[in-house]
Amino acid sequence: MDSAVAKQVAHYLDAKRQYLLESWMSQVMIDSNDRFKDHIIVNGTRMLDVVIAYLSGRQINDARILQFAQRVSAERLEANVNIGEFVYNVTIGRSEILDCLVETGFTIRELTPIIHTINALFDRFLYFAVLHYTELKNQQISEQSSFIEQTHKDKLTLLGQMSSSFVHEFRNPLTSVIGFVQLLQSKYPSLEYIDILTKELEQLKFRITQFLLISKKGVDRKERETFRIGHLFDETLEFLYPMIVSTNVSIEREIDDSLYLLGYRDEFRQVLINIIMNSLDALSASPVKRIIKGYRAGNQLMIQISNSGPPIPKEMISTIFEPFVSSKALGTGIGLYVCRNIIHEHGGIIRCESDDELTTFRIEVPIGDDDESTGQGYTKARFEP
Ligand SMILES: Nc1ncnc2c1ncn2[C@@H]1O[C@H](COP(=O)(O)OP(=O)(O)OP(=O)(O)O)[C@@H](O)[C@H]1O
Ligand SMILES: [Mg+2]
Repeated sequence: MDSAVAKQVAHYLDAKRQYLLESWMSQVMIDSNDRFKDHIIVNGTRMLDVVIAYLSGRQINDARILQFAQRVSAERLEANVNIGEFVYNVTIGRSEILDCLVETGFTIRELTPIIHTINALFDRFLYFAVLHYTELKNQQISEQSSFIEQTHKDKLTLLGQMSSSFVHEFRNPLTSVIGFVQLLQSKYPSLEYIDILTKELEQLKFRITQFLLISKKGVDRKERETFRIGHLFDETLEFLYPMIVSTNVSIEREIDDSLYLLGYRDEFRQVLINIIMNSLDALSASPVKRIIKGYRAGNQLMIQISNSGPPIPKEMISTIFEPFVSSKALGTGIGLYVCRNIIHEHGGIIRCESDDELTTFRIEVPIGDDDESTGQGYTKARFEP
């Protein structure tokens, strides 16, 4: 760049300053809500000063352009102005300056390096400004979304705490009502409707227990106990009897009745109810079949519950043990989640396989030592002759 020519151009631009700024201001976009609209002319003047100073031979380094660009972009963001509008205004300013150069009387050859210099200055300024604006905007968005997320989480936690306390308070009187109904039943065995009452109350208790099993408060655990698996199955089927009758299914029961387990009986019952209930839900088409197996394989207690019926879609099968996954209109989607937690707590695993013929849930629980003092984990099983 010819410095003599550049100085004369700078001088010319300085002389035309008033006209340049007025012409620019008549074209810029200004949002009526822009809190800093008075600053637009100040910033425009400053940019023109930078151009004139640079052409006059003064040193303008990147740090100075960066500082200026960052200040303006922060202000634009605070004014909540669209970045496109800002870029448009800066570009109009550049065009105004470049248009003016034609009137200086220099040849295009003499002006070309000056045009490059002015373009480079504006490009640097815009680059720094847009970069900073984007960084600030992203930061603002992430702060807002983490605030919304946190508030949402807090509300959910509060809701969870409230409902779990409520359900907890509910369970104790319910247990005593069930106890008294049973007493009534034994005292007046022919009392009408008492069976229905008991069954309905037991259903309610099942639902409440299910909820408590996933809440932080948890159920008040009884001690581990030794129980016969076959007996627990029979109790579960008895509990589900009304549902079994209405679904009209045939059951193949293949359970090794000599098999005992040491664990949390009520929680295991919850697992069996959930899986059998799901299999009954799935059995709307006929002919229907259900197979329940309980046997020992090596050191494992194996439980297998299968049903015919529509298969679980492949893309869904990996998610069914996650909480709140349900394909049912009135399902809560916590049944299998509870099952998985209980089986894991007993040191076992639970899997599901499903094809056109059968859907099978397999539970494997390690069988520990009979001597409790040496046994590990929760679960032990033993055989009786
Ligand atoms: N035997 C089965 N056959 C077909 N689909 C099943 C079977 N068992 C579970 N599923 C699918 O897995 C989903 C999750 O089951 P889960 O027991 O966790 O919840 P749910 O039964 O929908 O609701 P709830 O909380 O009342 O048990 C079901 O909605 C269903 O789509
Ligand atoms: Mg279920």
